[in-house]
Parts: sequence; C-alpha cells; structure tokens
Amino acid sequence: MHVIKVKDYEAMSEKACDILVKEMKSNERAVLGLATGSTPEGLYKRLIEKYKNHEVSFKQIKTFNLDEYVGLDKSDKNSYYYYMNDKLFKHIDIPPTHAALPNGKAENIAAECERYEKKIKNAGQIDIQVLGIGLNGHIGFNEPNTPFTSRTHVVKLDESTRQANARFFHSIDDVPTEAITMGIATIMDSKKILLLASGEKKAEILAQVIHGEITEKVPASVLQKHPNVTIIADEAALSKV
Ligand code: GLP
Repeated sequence: MHVIKVKDYEAMSEKACDILVKEMKSNERAVLGLATGSTPEGLYKRLIEKYKNHEVSFKQIKTFNLDEYVGLDKSDKNSYYYYMNDKLFKHIDIPPTHAALPNGKAENIAAECERYEKKIKNAGQIDIQVLGIGLNGHIGFNEPNTPFTSRTHVVKLDESTRQANARFFHSIDDVPTEAITMGIATIMDSKKILLLASGEKKAEILAQVIHGEITEKVPASVLQKHPNVTIIADEAALSKV
C-alpha cells in the first residue's frame, strides 16, 4: 500500500483529483468506481472545476458506484442516486447511461445484484476505484465479517453504520436497514484503488487497515492484498499509524 500523507481535507481532495485527472487524460474511456459519503465531496467539486476549465471530459468515461440504499427512490435526497446526480453527474458531460448505480428500488433485489455485477464485468475492469471508509472498516457497505469472496449483494446495515449515517436523515428510524453493495471481490478486481480518509475519527480504523491483521472483521484490511492501492489521508486520519 502506498500511503500519501497530506495536511488536511482540502489537500486530500486535491491529490485525489490530480490522480483521477491523470488517469482520465491517459485514457479517455476510463472506467471509474465512485463512492458516496462526506469524504469524496471535495474531490467531486474539483472534478467539476476541471471539467468547466475544459481540462477533462466525461463523454466517454463510465462510472460505477459502490452502493445504494434499498427502498429509497431516486428522487429521495438520501439516495445515493440523488447524491451522485447532485454532487457530480448533473454538472458534467457524462451520458446518463454511463453513470451506473445499483437500483435500490428494484422489485427483485437479488436479480438486481446479479445484473449490476454483470454490468461491471461487461465494462471490462474498473480502472480506479475510489473508496471512503466506515468507522468499523466497511468499504462500500461491506460490513465486518463479509466474506472477502463476496460479489455484489444485499446487506443488512450495522446499527453503528445506521447511526453514523443518521445525520443525513430526519431520524434514525428513517435510515434504511438494507443496501446493495459491490462485494469485496468486486472491489478487489479493480486495477487501482484509491482510499480516502480525513479526520481524527478515522485514525483508529485506518491504523488497523494499514498495519493490522488481514481479517474479515475489518473489511478494508483486505486492501493489503491488492497490488495497487493508494491511501490518501490527512494528518489527523493518520495520527495513530
Ligand atoms: C457510507 C458509505 C461508504 C462510505 C462511508 C464513510 O456508509 N456507504 O461508502 O465510505 O459511509 O462515509 P464518510 O465519508 O461520510 O465518512
């Protein structure tokens, strides 16, 4: 794992943006894996700027998001569909058919998981997968004890994850109990992985991910086995490494 230590959230976002822009310039048909949460927001703002300054185009780029809540409509402000549209897609020139997320409203969720997994496979390989990290070490919505061999599947969210994400909802009762997520093996198939982390809250888990045992109890620890992982984290997030 290659760890890049930066000063703060802004520097993390800047560095992540540089890496993605470099990838897009070297391959205008790049396939990007995207994440939600607070962590990549600064990255998306910068990518929009790069697009507006004509430095990059998304016309031939394909994107796959990691996950989506089960049961939320696309128009629901808390759906990841809404988030991605609001924070990135509506500001750039990506064709809507190129910007994929799992459909959390599908009638048959198991079939939707299979469809999404196939769609990723058909696109070739994800060139760079952007990841945030949950406080319990989850990546996407792969909670502790998810098998490392998992493919896109439906998960029951940990109570701690629901609590952590409750800040976006009216109340904890409104936070969905399930989500669809790329599996750990799906994520590990990506050519390159970019894990972003900012803030002291992430310090404990990040130390475990970087130096701890590789165990399904800490989903992100699997990244130690990937040949091309870059972690961009700020001083606070790396304070326990
Ligand atoms: C959610 C997402 C993850 C994300 C995590 C951390 O649970 N499913 O993909 O990495 O939260 O979120 P944040 O970046 O807000 O700390």
